[in-house]
Amino acid sequence: MNDTIRYQNKPLDFVRLLGKGKGGYSYLVTDGTRQYVAKKIHHEPSDFYDFGDDKFGAEVNAYKRLEKLDIHIPRLLEINKEQEYLIKEYIEGDLASDLIACGDISTDMLLGVFHISEVMRAEDLNIDYFPTNFVFRNGIAYYIDFEINDYLAEWDFTHWGIYYWLNQEGMKWFNQTGEFELLHPDPKTSKPRTLGFETQVAELKALYQQRKVTL
Ligand SMILES: Nc1ncnc2c1ncn2[C@@H]1O[C@H](COP(=O)(O)OP(=O)(O)O)[C@@H](O)[C@H]1O
Ligand SMILES: [Mg+2]
Repeated sequence: MNDTIRYQNKPLDFVRLLGKGKGGYSYLVTDGTRQYVAKKIHHEPSDFYDFGDDKFGAEVNAYKRLEKLDIHIPRLLEINKEQEYLIKEYIEGDLASDLIACGDISTDMLLGVFHISEVMRAEDLNIDYFPTNFVFRNGIAYYIDFEINDYLAEWDFTHWGIYYWLNQEGMKWFNQTGEFELLHPDPKTSKPRTLGFETQVAELKALYQQRKVTL
């Protein structure tokens, strides 16, 4: 990171790189007292996704929509348009992809994501349900990436995202190598392996409906 990252005019120290996805580099940073996430937008092309011209603006606008909804997301604390970074609240917890790889994702956690997906469906939106975009803190799912898309059934949670959440071996391999080999049967598409998970998806859907009625 060449440019100094600031929050409330104070320069922040770099702690570590948390992750890099299709949107940017997310760094854990500190002012000496508190920790934050600084997400610096990158402009590397993605094979599977078109952000349009204004990736930074898209992320800020997505936050403005998401913050009004009944889901948990980190607070957006400050933005720097010139240097294209966001300062967000740091959610200290477990990344869903790590929990999945270790077999530590519980049914209740999955039902929490069902709830998020139902809220999004009502808004006619999709979010990126890939598990690296969710952190669990005290059992609560936080959607930490600010990306939204118009709703399309084929990219929603129950047709797309959930299959990554159920594929422990695939996620383990992805964490170790960054390869989608065991997650995607066809390497040319971004469609997850569904084979062998259909029954579990149907059971979870039924359970979610049932829980809602008894709540
Ligand atoms: N607010 C946050 N709290 C905790 N971890 C975060 C936070 N924001 C990002 N991360 C970490 O950084 C990674 C990448 O962040 P993300 O916003 O998903 O970037 P991208 O748009 O590039 O996918 C995440 O997978 C997560 O590990
Ligand atoms: Mg992401």
